[in-house]
Amino acid sequence: MKAIVVTDEAAGTAGMTLTERPEPSAAINDVIVEVHASGYVPTEVTWPSTWTDRAGRDRTPSIPGHELAGVVTALGYGTTGLSVGQRVFGLADWHRDGTLAEYVAMEARNLAPLPGDVDFTVGASLPISGLTAWQGLFQHGRLQSGQSVLVHGAAGAVGSMVAQLANEFGGYVIGTGRASDRQAALDFGAQEFVDLDNDSLKDIGGVDLVFDVIGGDIQQQSATLVRPGGILVTIVGPPEARPADGLAIDFVVEADRTQLTEIVQRVRDGRLKTNLGTIATLDDAVAAFNPTERTKGKTIIRVRP
Ligand SMILES: NC(=O)c1ccc[n+]([C@@H]2O[C@H](COP(=O)([O-])OP(=O)(O)OC[C@H]3O[C@@H](n4cnc5c(N)ncnc54)[C@H](OP(=O)(O)O)[C@@H]3O)[C@@H](O)[C@H]2O)c1
Repeated sequence: MKAIVVTDEAAGTAGMTLTERPEPSAAINDVIVEVHASGYVPTEVTWPSTWTDRAGRDRTPSIPGHELAGVVTALGYGTTGLSVGQRVFGLADWHRDGTLAEYVAMEARNLAPLPGDVDFTVGASLPISGLTAWQGLFQHGRLQSGQSVLVHGAAGAVGSMVAQLANEFGGYVIGTGRASDRQAALDFGAQEFVDLDNDSLKDIGGVDLVFDVIGGDIQQQSATLVRPGGILVTIVGPPEARPADGLAIDFVVEADRTQLTEIVQRVRDGRLKTNLGTIATLDDAVAAFNPTERTKGKTIIRVRP
């Protein structure tokens, strides 16, 4: 099968190549999915799981991409809950070969049914951004209606989902980003916008919850804004700063069928818009992941037209 592989950590995303790989086989509780569309997070090449298996053994050449929409073509031993021919979308295991390929083997529990009226491109754009937003806001951030939420990168893939969900659940959303992101952030549900290059974060006063997708100095400034009892949630690694009288939590997104179903239902009824950017074929994927200028939204690879 055709697949994108990486073999050289130092080369980063530029080291991706399109090649032929053997088709995967289904292990216990796995399904094989014929991939129709795949997402990819640009930082994957810096994650240890891209290079080693769970025992720490080298697993190169590895196939990146860990979110997909496609059709189940085979079931492994003992697999229940999904059937051959079913449309699905979900989040693949970080330590196994991923979804930038014609087929992927993954555990059935990491997938949810993809309704027939949701396009594969849209389906593939939801698992990482949608689940990260959901888990960060509701499980880790414990968002309550009426709280104020500082959403960094609110025009980005994760931030745009965070802004919309926080808004829907009664949060007062202050989005941030670059000057040119203002309108997109407001359209995604932010009630206010802070241009991180030109405005001062201090001017917004206190907030109950910070959702950080940037880290560094922005995270450190944000920690000082958290009200007593509030929470700073970050998705870019161990917290570099903690609120004086609150919690700092970092996490890595997990697959969850119930949450995927909640997310896709919101896309169907219009409560949630996905943030699509470049859409390219597998043949053009390497170029799409190495753009020469800034791109906005999530890059999705249409593996099958
Ligand atoms: N822990 C987890 O489970 C998890 C899950 C998903 C993602 N992540 C991580 O979260 C991060 C964000 O992912 P994403 O997919 O949302 O990326 P993205 O689509 O690029 O969104 C990030 C947004 O923040 C903006 N931004 C970044 N630095 C900024 C700065 N200094 N000033 C103003 N705006 C800034 C970006 O603008 P520019 O494009 O102009 O930089 C972009 O609009 C990545 O590091 C990713 O690896 C972690």
